[in-house]
Amino acid sequence: MEPVKPHAVCIPLPAQGHINPMFKLAKLLHFKGFHITFVHTDFNYHRMLDSRALESLTGSPDFRFETIADGLPSTNPRGIQDLPDLCLSIPVEGLRSFRELIMKLNASTDVPPITRIISDGVMSFTLEVAEEFGIPEMVLFTPSACGMLGYLHYQDLKERGYFPLKDESELNNGFLDTEIDWIPAMKGVRLRDFPAFIRTTNPHDVMFNYNVQAVNNATKAAAVLLNTFDDLEHQVLDAIKTKFNNLFTIGPLSMLHRQLCPTNLDSMESNLWKEDTQCLVWLDKRVPGSVVYVNYGSLVTVTPQQLREFAWGLADSNYQFLWVIRADLVNGCGEEDILSEEFMAAISGRGLLVGWCPQERVLSHPSVGGFLTHCGWNSTIESVCEGVPLICWPFFADQQMNCFYSCREWGIGMEIESDVKRDKVEGLVRELMEGVKGHALRLKAMDWKKKAEAATGPGGSSFNNFDNIVMQLKHK
Ligand code: UDX
Repeated sequence: MEPVKPHAVCIPLPAQGHINPMFKLAKLLHFKGFHITFVHTDFNYHRMLDSRALESLTGSPDFRFETIADGLPSTNPRGIQDLPDLCLSIPVEGLRSFRELIMKLNASTDVPPITRIISDGVMSFTLEVAEEFGIPEMVLFTPSACGMLGYLHYQDLKERGYFPLKDESELNNGFLDTEIDWIPAMKGVRLRDFPAFIRTTNPHDVMFNYNVQAVNNATKAAAVLLNTFDDLEHQVLDAIKTKFNNLFTIGPLSMLHRQLCPTNLDSMESNLWKEDTQCLVWLDKRVPGSVVYVNYGSLVTVTPQQLREFAWGLADSNYQFLWVIRADLVNGCGEEDILSEEFMAAISGRGLLVGWCPQERVLSHPSVGGFLTHCGWNSTIESVCEGVPLICWPFFADQQMNCFYSCREWGIGMEIESDVKRDKVEGLVRELMEGVKGHALRLKAMDWKKKAEAATGPGGSSFNNFDNIVMQLKHK
């Protein structure tokens, strides 16, 4: 008789940037012999059915999908869910629904007994269920270590009077440029570089308080996992380890997955938007290193004016570009209402606009020479994996911190002002693609790529840490 498999229940925050790294981790554990239950929300599960072939979600006998409620109205049009609303509702409704799911799985003879819950660090209400059922829990934090260190200092910033802002004027009067000089591993950091939920006058801000609670709750988890590698963030990691001694770096998860099991469950995907793979054919026809890739991830929204500035900046740079414009990217309208015929004519033959792309395949394509990004952590670390340098336009969450480290510490990026102007876009694109600075950033990015390969290869820090947690997970 076959031995009973260990069973991990994996539950990400229901947003693309959280689902993707958890999905990679689940595939890796499946490769190591685990039975996996992967938990989506009903809302996202239906979005995935809409956006892709059904078979991708039917799973395999030992990799199954389950769903929980998120507590938001099901009438919500299928676009981005409001994050603060989600963070208010899911700890209540999601908790109830998750408890029912665990009861159902526990009672089932069709799946092995649950060995571990692996929860997103910001779904920490699951710890309550884990305790209730006596199941150990590990948490995966999907932001960078530097982002996490920022969140760990939120309470501190509050106690020292930096949060909340006294009034709105502090957003623009230089207050955000105040240097915060007491945090180890954050030399030169300013208030504006902290995860952006501090930029409010509301002391009860949902996202600020949600993140404070999440990092506090993580101390109760059996282990904390991070999608980064030691070489990249070692000083920051040392600072975090003073709060968590059970911290494991297992990233970049996309590279670890590629090194260990590139074909395991490769037809199973987790996109919330329908992927356009034709852009790969378009890239195939371009010269190596000649294309600027532009993408703002899954949650950013831009104003019509910002879209126009990016559009003309890219057009005026005269470079070829692949630009991902999600259907829900622009506040209040579609890009077709904003991007004029004149613009489309100006970029004809050298600019390709698509709604969603296979980002990792795009970044690894030889034609891509640079990435204009919002600095979401997945985008940043996926770019590091391919040695592609960045132009950084951080929007919110940990993106400001990722931008700070990319530009000041890792030497792989240049920042563009949040009040984006076309001539700046044009200038930075040129600098990135042909300038001395761009060349230096590219060399540095290639260097980090090699270090990421070493970390995820046999004997590397992330490789060993992953082996270690697999052992821990197998032994209840
Ligand atoms: C957000 C935050 O930005 C991020 O910092 C945090 O750590 C997680 O939540 P998001 O805004 O979606 O995530 O950005 P990012 O972290 O970059 O994740 C986007 C993911 O979607 C990446 O894995 C990327 O490869 C994928 N993607 C994006 C695609 O596959 N195709 C696309 O067209 C766009």
